[in-house]
Amino acid sequence: MSADTPTQPISLTQVLEILRDGTLRLEGLLPEGSNYTFLGLVKRKGTTLPAVYKPIKGERPLWDFPENTLAYREVAAFLVSQGLGWDLVPPTVYRPDGPHGPGSLQFFVNAEPEWHYFNVTEAERPAFQRVAAFDVVINNADRKAGHVLKGHDERFWLIDHGVTFHAQHKLRTVIWDFAGQPLPEDVCSDLQAFKERLEDDEDLRGALESLLDPLEVAALRRRIERLLTAGVFPHPRSNYSYPWPPV
Ligand SMILES: Nc1ncnc2c1ncn2[C@@H]1O[C@H](COP(=O)(O)OP(=O)(O)O)[C@@H](O)[C@H]1O
Ligand SMILES: [Mg+2]
Repeated sequence: MSADTPTQPISLTQVLEILRDGTLRLEGLLPEGSNYTFLGLVKRKGTTLPAVYKPIKGERPLWDFPENTLAYREVAAFLVSQGLGWDLVPPTVYRPDGPHGPGSLQFFVNAEPEWHYFNVTEAERPAFQRVAAFDVVINNADRKAGHVLKGHDERFWLIDHGVTFHAQHKLRTVIWDFAGQPLPEDVCSDLQAFKERLEDDEDLRGALESLLDPLEVAALRRRIERLLTAGVFPHPRSNYSYPWPPV
């Protein structure tokens, strides 16, 4: 890592500014990605941050998602995580001008290398109620255990949100631990507040509609309504409800 990596904590606004406007230099491809996923360094005004760049050109076409849209979904997942006040997704922006063209750029989390969701302890598990609710809300079609990172900051971070926000039900996850259990009150109040913002806050809705199809934004609001009405975490529906491979 470069010598001007910050030693002082920097604010989310600063991180987003650096990701949006910094000069991006790629270091190499990350292994284990199903798309072209690059590790890079992004530098602005003497501060350098590690970042993950996913160019649209490197997206593997999928039968069930419109082509060339995965990077937008990565950014939308970050906006929803922030909108809920849950801070689950590392800061993520859309870069129209990446070295391989437009794509998403996400802060690279310094994480415990071998850790994944199946290593979660009983003391840590309750924190994943929010994650389970988040995945229902964003309709995550690929929550593998390895898409949960445990940062050296002792926080959990969620990554890889390219296949999310489809208007049809696509939820595939390894986190079914809370199926049938009531949604915690704080989760419900955050969901309710976010749903109201989706209706009233034109900036938020506009930002999401610039990244997703308007029908997908409407489906997002409906999923929140349905989850609040159900008041419980959903059960898996079929074998399709589990991603493969699970890690
Ligand atoms: N923000 C991040 N911080 C740390 N590691 C990351 C981050 N994003 C991706 N990675 C690493 O890169 C790998 C591939 O990224 P992923 O988002 O899963 O790409 P793909 O869409 O190709 O599956 C992940 O399994 C993880 O090890
Ligand atoms: Mg992945």
